[in-house]
Amino acid sequence: MKIAVLPGDGIGPEIVSEAVKVLRALDLRLEMEHALVGGAAYEAYGHPLPPATLSLCKSADAVLFGAVGDPKYDRLARELRPEQAILGLRKHLQLFANFRPAICYELLSHASSLRPELVAGLDILIIRELTGDIYFGQPRGRRVSPDGDFAGAPEAFDTMRYARPEIERIAHVAFQAATKRGQRKCVTSVDKANVLETSQFWRDVVNEVHAFYPDIALEHMYVDNAAMQLVRAPKKFDVIVTGNMFGDILSDEAAILTGSIGMLPSASLNDTGLGLYEPSHGSAPDIAGKGLANPLATILSAAMMLRFSLDQAQAADRVEAAVKAVISRGLRTDDIYSEGCSRVGTQPMGDAVVAHL
Ligand code: IPM
Ligand code: MG
Repeated sequence: MKIAVLPGDGIGPEIVSEAVKVLRALDLRLEMEHALVGGAAYEAYGHPLPPATLSLCKSADAVLFGAVGDPKYDRLARELRPEQAILGLRKHLQLFANFRPAICYELLSHASSLRPELVAGLDILIIRELTGDIYFGQPRGRRVSPDGDFAGAPEAFDTMRYARPEIERIAHVAFQAATKRGQRKCVTSVDKANVLETSQFWRDVVNEVHAFYPDIALEHMYVDNAAMQLVRAPKKFDVIVTGNMFGDILSDEAAILTGSIGMLPSASLNDTGLGLYEPSHGSAPDIAGKGLANPLATILSAAMMLRFSLDQAQAADRVEAAVKAVISRGLRTDDIYSEGCSRVGTQPMGDAVVAHL
């Protein structure tokens, strides 16, 4: 089994090396090959997603991804910015189904910005469509200078667009996920159908696909209301399915209200089983290189990779149990620290997970 390892920028390299350490400790036959991506690749090759990195990913069974981005690249032309690497990987590998669980660990519920009783035991799954929508519709704007400067330009726009098969396949993914989770068996589809044609189309197609899943309840919700319900009563949700743009926004909101942003993994899958696995948080340039970052979201992403792409469910269970164990023992990185716990850095946290394994 071959894994493409792409640490990226900021805290990416630190957290990914802890996840690699955990994977090696499992004694599976994993071949891991590293490549540059994001700002790191731009520095070395002049492009955030060099052809060698892309072809490595295409030849792998799974991609383990750290994070990309740094404010120092903000003035680069859009196609050279670090973010283009992750967008390019999603598009080229057709990773259309993005799983972003928002789980509140009981021991961390006081770290939420909401009252503990609103989030304790929270376990929702956001399924975000990842290769369509306004992210990939035709953009247009008149740049004043070739390096991306719009000062004085007359207008700019992006196009929100979905094709029927794109909505159908993500709707199937959501209904199937709700079936497997076996919780409240409820899918909430989020859109803005009171304003946008794309959203009305989305809603109609989701309704059609729902006919195949009589055991699953379906509700539709406008995105503004969904943003509000997420902070009012997040536990009412089970599976949320939504488009690329709304999913970007709502998944950040859901992640932070768990109090565990440093703990949340994510998976982006295509229909061949290939997946890209990355923490839900970003590259955090402010703490990069200081050994402060929480590696657990990346370690848990590696567990998702074992389960979804490498058919190693048992190994995935072991990693997840080891993470729970180190949390129970009171080990905490800065982001989840509270009084009475032991504050540890990135590497000692990874070491503790390995020791438990
Ligand atoms: C995410 C990120 C990306 C996105 C950026 C880095 C392009 O915010 O994965 O949520 O907008 O999809
Ligand atoms: Mg985002």
